[in-house]
Amino acid sequence: MAVFLLFLLSSVSCLATALAQQSHLNISLGSSLTPTGNSSSWSSHSGLFAFGFYQQGNGYAVGIYLAGIPGKTVIWTANRLSPVFPSNVSLVLSSDGRLILQHTQGQDIVIADPSESISSASMLDSGNFVLYNSDKKIVWQSFEDPTNTLLPGQQLATGHELYSSVSETDDSTGIFRIKMQDDGNLVQYPVRKPDTSEYAYYASNTFGNGVTLNLDGDGHLYLINSSLTILSNLTKGGYPQDGRVYMAKIDVDGIFRLYSYSSNHGNRSILWESVEDKCAPKGLCGPNGFCTMMDNVSECRCPPGFDFVNPGNWSSGCERNFTAESCKSNSITNVKYEIRSLENTVWEDNAFATMETSTQEDCEKQCLDDCNCEAAFYKDGECRKQKLPLTYGKRTSDSNVALVKVGTLASISEGVIPSSPPKSIKKEIRVDILVIGISLAVFGVMISVIAGVYVHRNQVRAYKKITQNGNVEYVEDAAPKAFTFDELEVATNDFREELGRGAFGAVYKGVFPNSGKVVAVKKLEKLLVEGEKEFQNEIRVIGRTHHRNLVQLLGYCLDGNKRLLVYEYMSNGSLGNILFKPENHPWWDERIRIASDVARGILYLHEECETQIIHCDIKPENILMDDSRCAKISDFGLAKPLDHDRTRTYTAVRGTRGYVAPEWHRNLPVTVKADVYSYGILLLEIICCRKNVDSRFPEEQSILEVWAYDCFVDGELHKLVGEEEAVDMTKLERMIRIALWCIQNEPTLRPSMKKVVLMLEGTVDVPVPPSPDSFFSAM
Ligand SMILES: *[C@@H]1O[C@H](CO)[C@@H](O)[C@H](O)[C@H]1NC(C)=O
Ligand SMILES: *[C@@H]1O[C@H](CO)[C@@H](O)[C@H](O)[C@H]1NC(C)=O
Ligand SMILES: *[C@@H]1O[C@H](CO)[C@@H](O)[C@H](O)[C@H]1NC(C)=O
Ligand SMILES: *[C@@H]1O[C@H](CO)[C@@H](O)[C@H](O)[C@H]1NC(C)=O
Ligand SMILES: *[C@@H]1O[C@H](CO)[C@@H](O)[C@H](O)[C@H]1NC(C)=O
Ligand SMILES: *[C@@H]1O[C@H](CO)[C@@H](O)[C@H](O)[C@H]1NC(C)=O
Ligand SMILES: *[C@@H]1O[C@H](CO)[C@@H](O)[C@H](O)[C@H]1NC(C)=O
Ligand SMILES: *[C@@H]1O[C@H](CO)[C@@H](O)[C@H](O)[C@H]1NC(C)=O
Ligand SMILES: *[C@@H]1O[C@H](CO)[C@@H](O)[C@H](O)[C@H]1NC(C)=O
Repeated sequence: MAVFLLFLLSSVSCLATALAQQSHLNISLGSSLTPTGNSSSWSSHSGLFAFGFYQQGNGYAVGIYLAGIPGKTVIWTANRLSPVFPSNVSLVLSSDGRLILQHTQGQDIVIADPSESISSASMLDSGNFVLYNSDKKIVWQSFEDPTNTLLPGQQLATGHELYSSVSETDDSTGIFRIKMQDDGNLVQYPVRKPDTSEYAYYASNTFGNGVTLNLDGDGHLYLINSSLTILSNLTKGGYPQDGRVYMAKIDVDGIFRLYSYSSNHGNRSILWESVEDKCAPKGLCGPNGFCTMMDNVSECRCPPGFDFVNPGNWSSGCERNFTAESCKSNSITNVKYEIRSLENTVWEDNAFATMETSTQEDCEKQCLDDCNCEAAFYKDGECRKQKLPLTYGKRTSDSNVALVKVGTLASISEGVIPSSPPKSIKKEIRVDILVIGISLAVFGVMISVIAGVYVHRNQVRAYKKITQNGNVEYVEDAAPKAFTFDELEVATNDFREELGRGAFGAVYKGVFPNSGKVVAVKKLEKLLVEGEKEFQNEIRVIGRTHHRNLVQLLGYCLDGNKRLLVYEYMSNGSLGNILFKPENHPWWDERIRIASDVARGILYLHEECETQIIHCDIKPENILMDDSRCAKISDFGLAKPLDHDRTRTYTAVRGTRGYVAPEWHRNLPVTVKADVYSYGILLLEIICCRKNVDSRFPEEQSILEVWAYDCFVDGELHKLVGEEEAVDMTKLERMIRIALWCIQNEPTLRPSMKKVVLMLEGTVDVPVPPSPDSFFSAM
């Protein structure tokens, strides 16, 4: 009996639910909502959707959102040109039949403007907010006026468009659109650009009359023509309908995606997206910027000589860091022009002149000599001169080299700190922070190295057990020597021969007239240490780090505002010079030795000090080779991890593609393990004598770290070293395993540098490494 009763009850409640779905809650004239009062929204019958106020920025917006699942995802926004209102407004279904927003003072804003007056409204369970006339006919519905989202049952009609939002926290109209064109093609464009194929970044390539984009309750997203023939299935549909909500949305990043939301916990997953390349949406990076992928996340950067107009806003683009008053080098403005190159980077080609040049150098020269040329693209012997702004830039595997004309103030080399061109207040603050940050960092390095020296003295014996051949020497009285600016000017012959350029300034070759000793003089440009005492302290600190695998600091100059460092001269240039030029390739045994040299140098920085020195920029260009091709690390002790909120801005300067550990780009602390990552990439490059990213190789080989893991899994490591004979296969496998451990995405999985040294020596075994990406999703 009880069972029967239960059955009856449940049937009755089923019936009631079915009925409720047919009917709906009616909102009658005179009803109103306020942002902060008891009634701020009208819910649908099921409670899944609500129409009303939701918080946005410092105020409130009016719209429809998913009230029934966590996250309150917004699917429609009213008054998108200016959607945010103060808390003292109210939304009224007025007695004269209009839906309006009333300011306590001032003009009413019409939220929906049907042609007839309204007699009631309803938030339907489909997510459609509808207004009825007195005959209960729908006179307006949100489904016919979509903003950025389509729900099941809703269609994007011919001629209609969806617009992305400005940002995740600002639902105003953003910079991308998707249009259901009259010709039947569904196409994505940037806003404010004509509907022409040159601006399109996605097209369904369908054609027909009266074509519409439709979404069904089972996640089926498709295009049909007016005779209801399916022209294209964007998704096949048939996804589970229980406990899921589907929606198609054009996201802030310009990509149109189909999402599936779980109605219990609000988790969402992507079922389909219009383009896979996150850099494809044109205009993501604004004028002069370019888009690059870092760990599956798109990121905008500025070319050399450019800075972000507004560092927090990529679409505002990049501007030159110098004022181009006259295009020729000019003694009045002191501007000197040079060309910086960016490989594998393309912008929209708007060449004003195209010419055949035999080499990239010729193309550079052509551009330098042409006043109208502000950048040039060089590819396959063709040089295409461009004017600014450069648009729609991105990194690709295309072999195009972008050559950007950069102005440097010649006065820098006269040692005068240039007066910077007018910049926004925001930027000045940023510079201040950087200076303070670097001063603190230098102070930190100073403390840590002093402490490190102390600790080191007590640990020398323990350390020597590992290094065996006693690389470490500590010279008590080898404090670097102070030079005057004049002395260095003479030694470098007025800074004539530039050896290279590091993160902190240019390096010049010098010879001391009396001793004949050859040195490298680095002029610090970016690192502005305040005050004489701090600079000298810093010098003492760096000067005391003596290790055969670190470039030695011999002296310094502190003259007015000039800061120079004098290093031992490294006659064989950088490791890059040796590794990447076929004629310089070192033999296998030498490569093993170089790998070990570099590891020992990093180990010294990491573990000989109580607080470690993190190099932050380990790459072939920062490893220098002396006469006997012994590898030495340079540019240490000058860098320190920056705070997270600044990493994004500065990775543009710091981030050498491929060497930068993933945590730099995620919200994770940067530790010594970031250097281990960079070392892992470097190790692969040393083993294989090629760059990590090299598009001259077939696609599956073009990224060395990926290819190396594939070869490792397939047991085909010999492919990595080609025909080379001297390679010891056991050692090769050991090296590859070590490298794969070093480049694990998850920092805690990477070994310490000490462990790396032990593994390189063969003192400890190297376990089978997991895929470097295996812990990616957990991060
Ligand atoms: C809402 O209005 C419709 C149409 O007049 C009516 O059928 C329905 O019963 C009303 N629902 C409620 C809950 O009042
Ligand atoms: C909100 O509702 C509570 C109880 O439901 C009531 O006591 C209170 O007065 C209401 N506040 C306003 C501003 O209407
Ligand atoms: C409503 O808020 C706005 C801005 O917050 C303010 O300027 C205005 O004076 C307020 N109106 C009333 C009547 O409080
Ligand atoms: C719709 O597409 C089908 C198949 O391509 C075609 O036969 C039909 O004529 C189309 N209808 C219209 C109205 O274009
Ligand atoms: C689209 O999918 C439906 C089933 O969901 C299928 O019947 C139809 O043939 C497909 N049409 C095209 C053009 O692929
Ligand atoms: C949804 O997210 C919660 C918490 O993040 C997690 O515990 C749960 O497993 C997720 N469910 C699905 C289906 O992904
Ligand atoms: C990168 O993103 C694509 C598409 O969003 C996804 O299919 C792929 O699994 C992602 N790769 C990684 C390593 O997360
Ligand atoms: C602009 O940036 C380039 C490198 O990005 C640098 O060499 C040059 O000195 C900078 N110029 C000014 C005026 O800051
Ligand atoms: C970014 O800048 C552009 C114009 O420079 C502006 O229209 C846009 O609103 C800004 N976006 C954000 C999120 O501030």
